[in-house]
This record gives sequence, C-alpha cells and structure tokens, in this order.
Amino acid sequence: MSATIVVGVQWGDEGKGKIVDMLAQSSHVVVRYSGGNNAGHSIMNEYGDFVLHLIPAGIFNSETHCFIERGVVIHPPSLVDEMRSLEKRHVSLRKLKINPCAHMVMPWHLLEDKGNEADGTIGTTLRGIGPCYQDKAGRWRALRIGDLLNKESFLHMLQEAYIQKKAEIWGRFPQNGNEFPNFESIRDSYMDAREILLPYVADTTMLIHRYMDAGKQILMEGAQGTLLDVDYGTYPYVTSSNTTSMAAVMLTGISPKDIERVIGVTKAYVTRVGRGPFPTEMNEADHWHIQNIGREFGATTGRPRRCGWLDLPLLAYAARVNHLTEIALTKLDILGTLQVVATCMSYGSKRHMLGALDIQNLEQAQPFYTSNVGWGNLEGIRFRDQLPEQALKYVRRIEDYVKVPVRYISIGGRREETISL
Ligand code: IMP
Repeated sequence: MSATIVVGVQWGDEGKGKIVDMLAQSSHVVVRYSGGNNAGHSIMNEYGDFVLHLIPAGIFNSETHCFIERGVVIHPPSLVDEMRSLEKRHVSLRKLKINPCAHMVMPWHLLEDKGNEADGTIGTTLRGIGPCYQDKAGRWRALRIGDLLNKESFLHMLQEAYIQKKAEIWGRFPQNGNEFPNFESIRDSYMDAREILLPYVADTTMLIHRYMDAGKQILMEGAQGTLLDVDYGTYPYVTSSNTTSMAAVMLTGISPKDIERVIGVTKAYVTRVGRGPFPTEMNEADHWHIQNIGREFGATTGRPRRCGWLDLPLLAYAARVNHLTEIALTKLDILGTLQVVATCMSYGSKRHMLGALDIQNLEQAQPFYTSNVGWGNLEGIRFRDQLPEQALKYVRRIEDYVKVPVRYISIGGRREETISL
C-alpha cells in the first residue's frame, strides 16, 4: 500500500492536471484534497481537451475512483455544470464520490469576494473561495454538502443563513447589496444541484482507509501551488487553503507513513496570476514571448499570467516544505524557444536557504542569474538522451540545486509528450 502526492511548487498553473491524468492510469483512487473552482486543471487526452475545476483529473480513467475530499469547497451549481459537460463528452462519472464534510460555496460568498476585491487587493479569482473558508473556520452559517441530505433541515438552515448573510453584506458592501439574489432563486438552484449530487455523497475517508488496507495505490491531487498556501506562501497574496503535501495528509486522513512519493510539479519558468511579489518577473519582450508561445492565460479566469524566470531558491524552499521525492518539469519546450534562458541562483551574492520570513519579504529580493542559450522546441523527443545538451544542462542545474531528481519532463500538452527519466 502506498500513496503519491502531486503538488504544485510555484504559484499554481504548473501543469498538475496533465501529470495526474497520466499517473491515474496506475492509481486505484485519485483524491482532490483542497481548494475549489478557483483551480483550473488543463488536460489533453483521447477524450479531447478539458479544463477541470473541481473533479479530480483521474476521471478519464474508467477504472479509477475519484474523490472530492472534505478540504475542498464546492460551489454546487458549478460542480453540476462540470459533471454535465463531462457526461456530454462521454466521460463516465460512475466512480466519482463527494465527502459530506466538504463546505459549500454560497452565492453570498461570491458577493463578499467581489466586495473585498473592489480595489483588487489580492487579485482573487472571484469564485467566493476565501469567504467560504472564512465561514468554515468561523463556524457561522456555513453549509456543508452533508447538510443537503435532509431536505427539511437544509431548507431551514438555508433560510437562516440567507437572512443573516443578506444583512451582513448590505452592511459591509452597500454598493453590492442589491445584487443579492432572491431566496427562491438560491433555493431552486441548490435544490436542483442537491438532486444531482446526493447519489455521489459517500464517506470517502473511510473508503480511502479501506483501499489503503487492501494495498491499493492512492494518488492525491493538489490544487494551486505551494507559494499560494495560506501558511507557507507569500501571505497575504495567497489563497485561503493549505496547498502543500502536508495538507494532503491532513485532509485525506492518510497516514504520513504511507506516503511513498511526493511529486512536485514545476514549470521550467514561473508564472503567477493575481498580485504579490514576483522577484524573477521577465522583461517585456521575454514575457510577451512566453505568454504567447506558452498560452499563459488563466484556465479559470482567462487573465493573462505574469511570467518569470525559474527561481531556484524558491523551488528549493518548496521542495523542503513539501518533502519532495521527485520533480515533474513542465513546458521545457516553451522555455527553450527563447534565445537566452536565465535562471535565478540566489538573492544576493551568496546562496542561502530561504526561510518563511524571506518568503514574506520577497519584494526586496534581488535575484542573481546565470544564463544559457535556448535549446529549441524539442518536437518529437521522447527520451532523455535525445535532449539537446543545453536542455540537459538546465535539468541537471535544477537537480543539483534542489537535490531532488527530475523524474518527468513534459514537452507538450498530451500524455505521450512526456519523458520519464
Ligand atoms: P482565490 O483563491 O480566488 O481567493 O485567489 C487568491 C490568489 O490565488 C489569487 O492571486 C489568485 O490568482 C490565486 N489563485 C487561486 N487559484 C489559482 C490557481 O488555480 N492557479 C493560479 N492562481 C490561483
């Protein structure tokens, strides 16, 4: 019995969806453990091109169970839309299950997110994620998937929450108060979602324990990235959940002793959406090139992503806090199309280990770079020894610095465009 965690080690959008889709073929269960539909996991496989927001990327393998665990926050109408669009494209949801302890994102959370973001403070995805986690921790008028089980008590809870949240939102954001939907429309949309979601509700934690005991392979799918973790990231420019490998252990109930592999997914460069420090942000010309060749636009919001050079001190920090056993390096083909490729080796003349306090102060960081020439787009390459010397040098530089082996290199969106080392 063993478990593998796939975790993003940058600011999200590293390409986790593709890696999970690939590894799901040999996994009994794929578990999504945190975040909400702020995530957008892009996948290209024999079914077509997809962006998943809540459903685990293992769903394309008909033999793999897919669980949405308790740490995820679910906007029921969005989940239903995602399920319908998969079914329309002949993807079976037979093995999907939802933990009843997962909290529901409610329409008022979207309004709160909008109100908080009126001046673009964090640059959130406006999916109501922060306010939902806030209510979860506050234990006040929060609603969970399991509350849908009893229709009468759910309607009562919904009404109470509606009255109190409406008053609260009017008080805090009078400019958005009149956007508050009427009770009947919320009730109807959540009751419709209830009908569809109830058959999928199950004690997924118990099932995970059972599968572990039976020696099955479990894969845990992270969302967002380490630097967006509310405790380990670039606070306050972070999301509202824990995104690291430790969160996978806590939120799935798996024993830390059973974690065999922790795969950190990193792009060969770095991107970030939303506000916050970004020491290795590229100059305009390189940024424009990478953004366009790499199609660096948010999978959830369509926002252009900020692009920067690979930041090895940050990657080493992420490797440490996630206890990575290996790295999956994505978009090496995109980076190689630049004539000169820079890599951040330190902040300051001496290499030092970044601590949590440095992460909070990245705004002052002065990156020091080393450069090499680009290696082209890597078309048709399938094995490590076919890689051009400059690309290999880049990979070795990462391994030497971070002290974690690069196990996969992704050079395109499709499963087969992956080199396993
Ligand atoms: P929130 O999670 O919508 O509250 O957004 C908080 C911050 O996390 C913002 O900077 C978002 O752009 C960022 N963020 C949230 N989810 C993702 C993701 O899946 N990829 C990249 N950035 C994300």
